[in-house]
Amino acid sequence: MIEVQQLTKYFGAVLAVDHVSFAIDRGAIVGFLGPNGAGKSTTMRILTTYLPATSGSAKVAGYDVRNQAMEVRQSLGYLPENVPLYPEMRVDEYLQFRAKLKGVDRSQRKQRLHYCIDRCRLTGVQRRLIGTLSRGYRQRVGLAEAMIHDPPILILDEPTAGLDPNQQQDTLGLIRELRENHTIILSTHILPEVEEVCAQVIIIAQGRVVLQDALDQLTKDSEILIEVRADRAEVESVLKTMNGVAQVNPQAADDPGLASFSIVTVDQQDLREPISRQLTQRGWTFRRLDLRRRTLREHFVAATMGRRSTN
Ligand SMILES: Nc1ncnc2c1ncn2[C@@H]1O[C@H](COP(=O)(O)OP(=O)(O)OP(=O)(O)O)[C@@H](O)[C@H]1O
Ligand SMILES: [Mg+2]
Repeated sequence: MIEVQQLTKYFGAVLAVDHVSFAIDRGAIVGFLGPNGAGKSTTMRILTTYLPATSGSAKVAGYDVRNQAMEVRQSLGYLPENVPLYPEMRVDEYLQFRAKLKGVDRSQRKQRLHYCIDRCRLTGVQRRLIGTLSRGYRQRVGLAEAMIHDPPILILDEPTAGLDPNQQQDTLGLIRELRENHTIILSTHILPEVEEVCAQVIIIAQGRVVLQDALDQLTKDSEILIEVRADRAEVESVLKTMNGVAQVNPQAADDPGLASFSIVTVDQQDLREPISRQLTQRGWTFRRLDLRRRTLREHFVAATMGRRSTN
């Protein structure tokens, strides 16, 4: 549905997007993550045809962003980082105007308008001037505008930034419902949101893709943490001979009589019980035996470490 190849964008001497490539299948919900200044918004602006790339290519719904901009815009709804709205227009007038501009058929317009106002919880403010709305409500008007022509793809740049927790949850609920029949790219800094609604993540840092995977694969990544009252070298040698153990990493212990390790297993197997059997049969006792999944936050930090932007 979206195909990006070697996409590169310079702003003068600043390299904002650096040979980025990825592909997103129809129906995928992708979390597009990265530190501030990583190039997320720039990539999204190129995909939505609001900014030309310096080099490389991008196709959206089969259309080239460079020379089929009209078709690309028809295929997607875009919620930009800073939503441009007309402050002197009323919410319903604005959405109607945008629906017309986006070519929504006259016979469909009323029904689409009603649907988007309802779904974005704008019913109570539809007659208000946009300029008098709070930031959160303006964000929802932006989302309604992105959806008004019922595009198959939604590109949402921090849709929940600045929203209160109730509105965040509401917007996430809406995105969860939209998953059914849309392909969605969602940029956010709120990682639990990604864990809640996305199936895949793409992490970029300093304009480059540094990690790209299915979320369930990432969070399968685990380590087993143990603390055993025994000689560290002896415990280590027993662990290293066990089937399925890939790495045995010594950890600092707060008690000199304890041996503490982080164990990585082949294929993320849960070896807690075999480990427990092996060590207790030697008369050693455990203070700790835990399986810990790596969180998205840990993946994010590891993938972007040393690649934080300086601006
Ligand atoms: N119009 C512009 N002119 C010059 N430099 C720009 C312009 N837009 C973006 N940049 C630069 O490009 C880089 C990437 O910016 P971008 O807005 O894409 O980052 P981002 O990943 O969306 O960050 P954030 O998480 O803060 O929104 C930054 O170094 C930024 O300063
Ligand atoms: Mg941004």
